[in-house]
Amino acid sequence: MLQDFLSQTRDQVSRNIKKSIGQSNLIEDAMSYSALGDSKMIRAALIIASGKINKNISKSSLITLASAVELIHTYSLIHDDLPSMDDDDLRRGRESNHIKFGEANAILAGDALQTLAYEIICDEKSLDAKYKVEAIKMISKACGKNGMVFGQYLDVNAETKKIDEEMMENIHKLKTGRLIECSVMVAQISNEDDLQKDSIKNFGKKIGLAFQITDDILEITSNEETLGKNINSDVKNRKATYVNVFGLDKAIKESRELSKAAINDLKNIRSRETDLLVELAKYISYREK
Ligand code: IPE
Ligand code: IPE
Ligand code: MG
Ligand code: MG
Repeated sequence: MLQDFLSQTRDQVSRNIKKSIGQSNLIEDAMSYSALGDSKMIRAALIIASGKINKNISKSSLITLASAVELIHTYSLIHDDLPSMDDDDLRRGRESNHIKFGEANAILAGDALQTLAYEIICDEKSLDAKYKVEAIKMISKACGKNGMVFGQYLDVNAETKKIDEEMMENIHKLKTGRLIECSVMVAQISNEDDLQKDSIKNFGKKIGLAFQITDDILEITSNEETLGKNINSDVKNRKATYVNVFGLDKAIKESRELSKAAINDLKNIRSRETDLLVELAKYISYREK
C-alpha cells in the first residue's frame, strides 16, 4: 500500500513541478535537474496523507502544497551540498547541482526554487486567499531564520566542535524537523478541529526528529549507491551527528521509539484516515534509503 502511494505521489508532484518550472533557460534546467531527480518525496507524501484527515481541503490544493514544499526542500539540498556548506558532489544519484551547473547557477537555482514555491501557492485556484496567506506564513516560518536556516547555521558552525546532546537534538529539530512538521500541518489549514491539529503537530515533531536521526544512521550503515549521495560527508566535515553524539545503538532505538510514539499521537484522531500516516511514520524510521 505504502509503495503504491509513494510512487503515485511522486508521479503527480513531479508532473506539477515540471510544468511549474518550465524549460526556457539554464536556471530552469538547473532547477528541474535537482527537483526532478530521484527523490523519495516523503514531505509531499506526508502532506497528501495528512490531508486525508482534513475534510476542508481539495486534492488540487494538496498537490500544490506538496510541490511547494518539495521545491523548498530541493533548494535546501542544493545549497546544503555547496562547497561552503557540506561540499558534497553526489545527490539523488547524480552530480550535485553545483558540479553540473557551476556554483553561481546552483545558488541561483536554489533561490528560484524557493520563490517559485510561494508563487505556485499564490496561483492555486482552489485555495481561499486567507488560507494561502496561512500556508505561506507557515512554510516561511518553518524554513526561515528561526527554523531550517537557523538549523543549518548551527549545523555548519558545530563542525569540529564538541556539542552536547541537547544541542544535537535542537539542530536536528530545526534543520530537518521543522519542514517535516510543517508538511503535516500545512495540510491541516482550513481544518477546524483543533484536537486533530494538536495530535498531528505532535506526530510531526516526532517523525521530523526521527527522520534526521535515520539520515545520520544511514550515512554509517548504508552505501552511496543505495542512498545516491556521499556517505563520507559527516566524517569529512567532522560533523556532529546523532550517531557520534549518542552512539549507533541509541540512535536506532531513539528513531524507532519516536516513530512508535508518533503513531500513538494519532490514536487521538477519530478519523479513520490515518493509515497512511502510520505507514509513513514506520517507513521514516525503518527505511533503507
Ligand atoms: C535529505 O532529505 C536531507 C535531509 C533533510 C535529511 P531526503 O532523504 O528526504 O532526500 P530526498 O528528497 O529523498 O532526496
Ligand atoms: C540536510 O541535512 C538538511 C537540509 C538540507 C536542511 P544533511 O546535510 O544531514 O543531509 P544530507 O545527508 O546531506 O542529505
Ligand atoms: Mg548539511
Ligand atoms: Mg549534507
